[in-house]
Amino acid sequence: MSSSITSVLTENRSFPPPKEFSAGAKVGSMADYEALYRRADQDPDGFWGDVAGELAWEKKWSRVLDWKLPDARWFVGGALNLSVSCLDRHVSTWRKNKAALIWEGEPGDSRVLTYGQLHREVCKAANALTALGVKQGDFVAIYLPMVPEAVIAMLACARLGAPHTVVFGGFSAEALADRIKDAGAKIVITADGGWRRGAIVPLKDNVDRALEGSSVQKVVVVKRCANQVAWRDGRDVWWHDVVDKASVKHEPKAFDSEHPLFSLYTSGTTGKPKGILHTTGGYLTGAYYTTKMVFDLRDDDIFWCTADIGWVTGHSYVVYGPLANGATVLMYEGAPNQPGPDRFWDIIAKWGVTVFYTAPTAIRAFMRWGDEWPAKHDLSSLRLLGSVGEPINPEAWMWYRKQIGADRCPIVDTWWQTETGAIMISPLPGATPTKPGSATRPLPGIAADVVLKDGTPCKANEGGFLVIKKPWPSMLRTIFGDHDRFQKTYFGEVAGVYFAGDGARKDEDGYFWVMGRVDDVINVAGHRLSTMEVESALVSHPKVAEAAVVGRPDELKGQAIVAFVTPRQGFVADDALAKELREHVSAQIGALARPEEIRFAEALPKTRSGKIMRRLLREVASGSKARGDTTTLEDQGVLEKLAQSFSNED
Ligand code: WT7
Repeated sequence: MSSSITSVLTENRSFPPPKEFSAGAKVGSMADYEALYRRADQDPDGFWGDVAGELAWEKKWSRVLDWKLPDARWFVGGALNLSVSCLDRHVSTWRKNKAALIWEGEPGDSRVLTYGQLHREVCKAANALTALGVKQGDFVAIYLPMVPEAVIAMLACARLGAPHTVVFGGFSAEALADRIKDAGAKIVITADGGWRRGAIVPLKDNVDRALEGSSVQKVVVVKRCANQVAWRDGRDVWWHDVVDKASVKHEPKAFDSEHPLFSLYTSGTTGKPKGILHTTGGYLTGAYYTTKMVFDLRDDDIFWCTADIGWVTGHSYVVYGPLANGATVLMYEGAPNQPGPDRFWDIIAKWGVTVFYTAPTAIRAFMRWGDEWPAKHDLSSLRLLGSVGEPINPEAWMWYRKQIGADRCPIVDTWWQTETGAIMISPLPGATPTKPGSATRPLPGIAADVVLKDGTPCKANEGGFLVIKKPWPSMLRTIFGDHDRFQKTYFGEVAGVYFAGDGARKDEDGYFWVMGRVDDVINVAGHRLSTMEVESALVSHPKVAEAAVVGRPDELKGQAIVAFVTPRQGFVADDALAKELREHVSAQIGALARPEEIRFAEALPKTRSGKIMRRLLREVASGSKARGDTTTLEDQGVLEKLAQSFSNED
């Protein structure tokens, strides 16, 4: 679609928050937003200190922030147990009998856990893990489907000061093995399987393969599907065998504010995923604050974030943010189209979901499935809608507003990253007039800007790099095991500021329009992948001599993976080989990385110095297919230019 149509849709349309909404909202007007933003900007210590003060601390901090670029320490000297803010403090109030978790499995089974019950389960799990040898500082790998035990396991780890590393159930045994090894995890928590589109995801089998030759001593297995799994006596234990009999009493110990809470692997420019490390006090402050402000949470809300706990969105908005706020969380195990394309709408109507947070790629799929599916259900409980993970195209935004939100619910398009820990740029739903496709303005406390390579702020509507100029509590502290790479990647690109890796522009109202990545990261259906990661997987195949991977705009997924492959001498480049290679990538990384298209080439275009000319390949890859409306031609041009001035680009 042409850029002029996009501008009509985006720039000339602004939706003020409905009056009734603003009246009761946490922040009810733009004037209030501006005042709060100014206060946070002028007195960040006072501002963040007040926010953190709403959590449960065992020992108060002596200083809010210690900042020596690139190293931040937040709430210095403070001590807390994160699970106390999420559980114990609610259990001592009326919320004890409030639903903390409403869970629905794909086959249609369900469970509801009150705060009192969730607290008991977490205490039992913490005692069980202790009995299995887990101690403060030990990494625990979690490879579970979306079942209540996933939330219980994460909170139990947090309670013990044992950092977790959750691996998305869609990752392969190989990818799981890499992450377990990199984190040095001692123990893995998994399940006999999980339900996805009517089939069982063989999680335990993947763990067995991932652990060949590894020093992991214990595997705790949740029984979910009652299917047959291989068993290694002495190593494998059933969750119910160790947790059911454990004591419900567990005394939480307070940990330093900077104690590691979790690492989460995400893709960067190189082939090796990075373990993004978050710590306790700052992360929880960010997750708590943003959930409260952006989702305007109230005690009678039922909050549904559809993300898997394997991604940061699941960490911050299925688990830590909502529970720190004492909210009721809805959690669903399976696919959105099982048994039919209206499963999500059925769930919203059935449980009375009030706040719904999902990804543009899902919204575009719903659009394609047809308006009749949401129309069959009563969605009147909804009062607020959210979007996250990739730029949302104006058409999808408008459809979401009309078909799901009945032209009545504000939409919050939230920009953030695994590294930022929590939402950075987003409308405040009672205050900020929205424009379809824009994440609008940074939250109070977040010094986001768009600048050129030398740090000069861009003029209105000039494309540049998205940066954050001041530290914030939930920022990553390091890349696990590679502090150098942390410094270079995030603080080595534009002097003195955090470099997000996204291209963006700010319009004349100061609204941010995020265009996409300027590095070799691609975003496929909201999943972040490195082109080099996919290339490494391809060249590890014996029939491949060389491979180059690029993203091309895709109407449904945002971007689709196109791989250019030169086979080794003697191998025929045919459909059978293409199929074999796609399966190979799937086995190496996971189905999410399977190339959409394999193109065989006798040689790849290279510069004189031997570097693959990715830009050319991107053009070739996008040229042959009709472009989706997700990336305008104009934005593509700006992104290409930015990518060239980005030093990691070849
Ligand atoms: C990248 C981060 C943190 C949420 C899940 C993804 C893209 C994320 C938006 C948005 C435009 C967005 C960016 C970012 N992104 N949200 N609202 N508008 N782009 O986390 O896997 O760490 O990916 O997702 O490119 O850098 P992630």
